[in-house]
Amino acid sequence: MAARLLDGTRIAADIRTELIARVEACTLAAQRPPTLGILLVGDDPASEVYVNTKSKAGDALGLKVDVVRLPKTATLDKAKEVVCRFNRSQNHDGILVQAPLPSALGTIAEQTLFEAIDPMKDVDGFHPINFGRLAQGRSVFAPCTPSGILELLDRSCINLKGQRAVVIGRSQIVGKPVALMLLHRHATVTVCHSQTRDLPALARDADILIAALGRPAFVTSEFVKPGATVIDVGVNRLVDETIVKSLLPLGSPRLQTFARRGSLLVGDVHPAVSETAGALTPVPGGVGPLTVAMLMVNTVRAAEMSLGQAVQYRG
Ligand code: GUN
Repeated sequence: MAARLLDGTRIAADIRTELIARVEACTLAAQRPPTLGILLVGDDPASEVYVNTKSKAGDALGLKVDVVRLPKTATLDKAKEVVCRFNRSQNHDGILVQAPLPSALGTIAEQTLFEAIDPMKDVDGFHPINFGRLAQGRSVFAPCTPSGILELLDRSCINLKGQRAVVIGRSQIVGKPVALMLLHRHATVTVCHSQTRDLPALARDADILIAALGRPAFVTSEFVKPGATVIDVGVNRLVDETIVKSLLPLGSPRLQTFARRGSLLVGDVHPAVSETAGALTPVPGGVGPLTVAMLMVNTVRAAEMSLGQAVQYRG
């Protein structure tokens, strides 16, 4: 039987609707809308799309999104200057530095800029202070994609307590924080990565499998226990027709999408997994919309705190 599809687009819309009253209250109290400053360095096409999506989501909700763009030739000092300007600004509640940064900025650029952000404006939750708070189970800003995954699981009534969760991928942005959050919710968590031995067998033990490794269709049915919940965090754009045809069954409507657009978005999970999993997030329309919705939640929370509301620590 085909897996239940976990509709991230619908859940994200619910979360945004729930935010409207809070946005209005902040706007009234501050005499300006909650405001997010985004720094985008370089011209990575995927980052352009993500930043546009975040801007549009903010506009639709009545937030202000202030995007500062720097060319890929910009120095790290110049980028840091923008972050410091956002830190000092009384008109910016939240700050986000879009990753990845151009490689010319050096390997430590991302961490340097994340650490330059005022932790009370760090809506991405990547500052070591916020990551440490998350590790201690008293987060102020938790990273958006992991928070979105937890919202998606909760709102889909998927039990976490006592369940075996396997996370494939150990990134700072998704793998590590989502593992901590699942642990705090009493799941038994295993984190796997490229050096893990016998990955399919480990993954097959999972009641909840999170695929966040960034390799298209890597997680096949061999990795999935029948009936498991599979969360696909990957967003991979495929342009090779042979590869696309090898992944999709003959007659799949997604082949027409590919023919029309010349590319297809696929996750880290093979489409055939829908025959084995009990519940599955689609790509697109699964985790992606939740990431953006949780960024809106964190920005409103930052605005509420800058208005003097008490800091709320979460698990
Ligand atoms: N690049 C991919 N995902 C993210 C994210 O959640 N935040 C930022 N800042 N950059 C990203």
